[in-house]
Amino acid sequence: MVAKAKDSGVVKKISTGIEGMDKLLYGGIPEREQVLLAGGPGAGKTLLSFEILYRNAKKGIPSTMVSFEEEPEDIIRNAKAVFEEFTDIDDLIASGKLAVEKAESYERIYQKGDDTSNYSFGHIVSEIEDMLTKNNAKLIVIDSISIVKLLFPDVFSYRRSMMSLTQNLRRLGVTALFTFELQTSSRQDLKFTREFFMFDGVIILYQAEQDDKRSLVAEVVKTRGTNHSWILSPYEITPEGFKFMTVA
Ligand SMILES: Nc1ncnc2c1ncn2[C@@H]1O[C@H](COP(=O)(O)OP(=O)(O)O)[C@@H](O)[C@H]1O
Ligand SMILES: [Mg+2]
Repeated sequence: MVAKAKDSGVVKKISTGIEGMDKLLYGGIPEREQVLLAGGPGAGKTLLSFEILYRNAKKGIPSTMVSFEEEPEDIIRNAKAVFEEFTDIDDLIASGKLAVEKAESYERIYQKGDDTSNYSFGHIVSEIEDMLTKNNAKLIVIDSISIVKLLFPDVFSYRRSMMSLTQNLRRLGVTALFTFELQTSSRQDLKFTREFFMFDGVIILYQAEQDDKRSLVAEVVKTRGTNHSWILSPYEITPEGFKFMTVA
């Protein structure tokens, strides 16, 4: 765990396993909390969350990704292609410490099209809980929640249902990252939507532009009950994993 220079140290945290990201989070993701990982397309939300699960699985913490859209085989294939140094992905999956699952109920509900949102959402929640129980997961990623929103006719039922999901996960003792698709990749154009208020923590991945070059930048916007770095950290996706250029 990274030293927490400006943090009381009261909140227990799960290290992401990525040095620079732990520095941004003053140690890691607060245990049993729900953190939003938001960014535009191609920001690296799926890859970053996969790496966090991979590194925790390596430490023996059962880690599961629940995917709503991409097929697990595709996620694993992409991760292997990008992270060439992670040669033990298959071993971790075989040992049961790392799992990538597809949430099937969403597609079924969508195809049927006649369920009420609360009923449908109940199916999704119980499917997620079944996966967590099966894998005994302590750390999970839901990739992404953006699609779940489409089930709800109004913001109140959406917000209430998401609250009940996060409360259930907390009750199960699970620490969770929820990826969320932003409509913009630019920090200047970012508008805070209700998702930013619904979660305990918020991390945003942007694409910054300078002259004719784009670069990736990460920022921790909030972590409830504990401090975090206030710097904007450029990052790169490398064969060894994500590299965050943070200042100490
Ligand atoms: N081999 C690679 N090396 C570095 N970056 C890569 C590599 N392959 C893909 N990427 C980057 O990863 C991005 C996709 O990451 P992904 O996690 O799927 O994004 P998101 O889930 O935020 O849409 C691509 O747009 C590309 O910029
Ligand atoms: Mg993705």
